[in-house]
Amino acid sequence: MQVGEAALEVSGAGVTYPGVRALQGLDIDVRAGEVHAVIGHNGSGKSTFVKLLAGQCRPTQGTRIRVAGEELPPQSPLESARLGLRFVHQDLALVPSQSVTENLGLSVGLGVRGLKRIDWRAEHAAARSRLAELGYAVDPKALVGELSRSTRSAVAVARALRDFVGSPARVLVLDEVSAAMTAPEIARLLEMLARLRATGLGILYVSHHLEEVLQTADRVTVLRDGVRVTTSSAHTLTGAQLADLIIGTEQAHKLREGRAAEPGERDLATGQSRHTGAAFTVTALSGQILRDISFQARSGQIIGVAGIAGSGREELAELLMGSVPRKGSVLIDGAELPPSRPDLSVRYGMALVPADRSSNAVIPTLPVRDNMTLARLSPFWRRGWLSRRSEAKEVSAWIERLSIRGATVDGAVSTLSGGNQQKVMVARALRTRPRVLILDEPTQGIDVAAVADIHAIIREVAETSAVIILSSDSDELASLCSEVLVLRAGRVAAQLADSDVMSAAIMRLELAGGAGSLVQGAESEARQ
Ligand SMILES: Nc1ncnc2c1ncn2[C@@H]1O[C@H](COP(=O)(O)OP(=O)(O)OP(=O)(O)O)[C@@H](O)[C@H]1O
Ligand SMILES: [Mg+2]
Repeated sequence: MQVGEAALEVSGAGVTYPGVRALQGLDIDVRAGEVHAVIGHNGSGKSTFVKLLAGQCRPTQGTRIRVAGEELPPQSPLESARLGLRFVHQDLALVPSQSVTENLGLSVGLGVRGLKRIDWRAEHAAARSRLAELGYAVDPKALVGELSRSTRSAVAVARALRDFVGSPARVLVLDEVSAAMTAPEIARLLEMLARLRATGLGILYVSHHLEEVLQTADRVTVLRDGVRVTTSSAHTLTGAQLADLIIGTEQAHKLREGRAAEPGERDLATGQSRHTGAAFTVTALSGQILRDISFQARSGQIIGVAGIAGSGREELAELLMGSVPRKGSVLIDGAELPPSRPDLSVRYGMALVPADRSSNAVIPTLPVRDNMTLARLSPFWRRGWLSRRSEAKEVSAWIERLSIRGATVDGAVSTLSGGNQQKVMVARALRTRPRVLILDEPTQGIDVAAVADIHAIIREVAETSAVIILSSDSDELASLCSEVLVLRAGRVAAQLADSDVMSAAIMRLELAGGAGSLVQGAESEARQ
């Protein structure tokens, strides 16, 4: 296939769910050797488009998809793969407790020699060389769960490209693979994509990170409410223009003027003064990776925690919450939280927005209403009855305030797009107005308009609560926090305060002290 030839041609593509037109009349093409980015607000239809290509949902009439000139029949995952479409979904679908080699063998089975024996030496060598082709030096015996996010994404890409060895990959589709990656990890991912593009592969890249899109993509298609707004060359667009295209001019105006809308019932309405002067003290906290972490936060403060994969950042939220064993002490207003009792941590006033909503937070069988309110129902008790009406009022105010698209008070949470589910989780924690609020990757997968909104609400909550934010996004930390702890190899490597809290400084400190170079960093990670 020649660079520049159409690898994928889509016309008139549509998908309708009961009551929702998720995608409508979409025309888009991806050329060989091109990165074509697809962006849009939460619920705009990006993942639906990806699923359509994968044969996982039913197209409306008039949908036409051709791969390298061949027609792709509807709802046929096998044909999709045979014609050359390959996918890496946001959750990567890897098994953390298995080795790199085992993960690479997942979909085709490992090569066998003789009758049943696996030739591990050959398999490991093949795995190593596949990843080397992608620019990653990785020990094939390493467990996937121990790798950095960018290395894991490389394993997922290697696996996607390996499937169906008999037919060549023509278009690689990546759906929000960079979510929760730190800047250096994203840089490595983009490097890998550049290599793949140079081989003539077409790449369809779904992301919420506008800078990364402008840096990587040749062309950008913007979706809004399931309809294509524009397709343009990435080289002629600025980040601000892109943001306006995503949210629409009207919304953009609203955003600039700042939003005055208030969520429904405020906790302060209960008239309790328990919010004044929350104090959070952590002393000599240790877990699996983290050693001897101490810090304090008062209400009115937003403390950030930065650190690359393996720094221990991922472990901190659960340690603070008490859901994994810890050493050291955690105090709220002088009262020590008993270890291993997350339920009591909640009772003492701690709330957590966990990073992995699918396994930690969203309860798919319950409607939006219960997912949002189950952490605190007290405002809805009226003389012994649960007031479903006042609950509904507050839930719908949050839906409005965070623009949770597709959500209704009693609608299913499982049919919401990824970013919109994340908004429900954020609302669940924010509405409890906790004394200590811990947010782990709060805006992961969230569109540009809602990020601004969530940041505004976090600032508001911080007026009366102590807030701790764990984030891989150093810009996010720099814009919100008065103080940032940078973790490295399980310890607090640096503590930035006030005017020293800057994105570039955070990034430098996340890496400094290691071997310096990213590639060496990756090798030492692989040797673990
Ligand atoms: N199985 C389903 N049943 C009903 N509606 C659905 C289903 N899956 C998705 N939707 C709806 O289709 C719309 C598009 O969702 P989609 O997941 O494609 O959004 P997205 O652009 O990927 O958003 P995000 O950035 O949040 O991941 C949303 O309104 C969503 O609620
Ligand atoms: Mg999506």
